[in-house]
Amino acid sequence: MTEIDAVESPLREIFAGRRGEPAEVIPLLQAAQERLGYVPREALRVIARFTGVPESKVYGVATFYAQFKLTPMGRHHVMICRGTACHVRGGARILTAVKRELNLEEQQTSPDMKYTLETVACIGACALAPCLVVNKKVYGRLNPQKATAIFTQKE
Ligand code: FES
Repeated sequence: MTEIDAVESPLREIFAGRRGEPAEVIPLLQAAQERLGYVPREALRVIARFTGVPESKVYGVATFYAQFKLTPMGRHHVMICRGTACHVRGGARILTAVKRELNLEEQQTSPDMKYTLETVACIGACALAPCLVVNKKVYGRLNPQKATAIFTQKE
């Protein structure tokens, strides 16, 4: 299977029942990411062709919204909150400790594809500040020790 087939086959299933209209670019990008784990360059091309929207505009949409990932993500997607509530309760110390534990900087993925580390403005769990999310699970009321302990048993 070629790289193009690996992208086109799942996208053909996503396209089923859709009309191929410009308004479908965002839902198609979301569906592609859900299916492929990220939005590869080839997916941008295929979505552009299907919707009739220039590839440069599809790329523009995909890069405008932080939700779209254009590179493969690690198996564990770590998001550390940098919002105000978390900041005043020691969020910076959590970030420093996790960066050291994972040996990653912000917006990086480990070479073994185990972790992707990102920071976000607020994860919507301010009452639990400071907090972080791993694969959609929220961990709250953290200190640096509790935060690093989250990663000791991840495979
Ligand atoms: S500020 Fe951190 S969850 Fe809202």
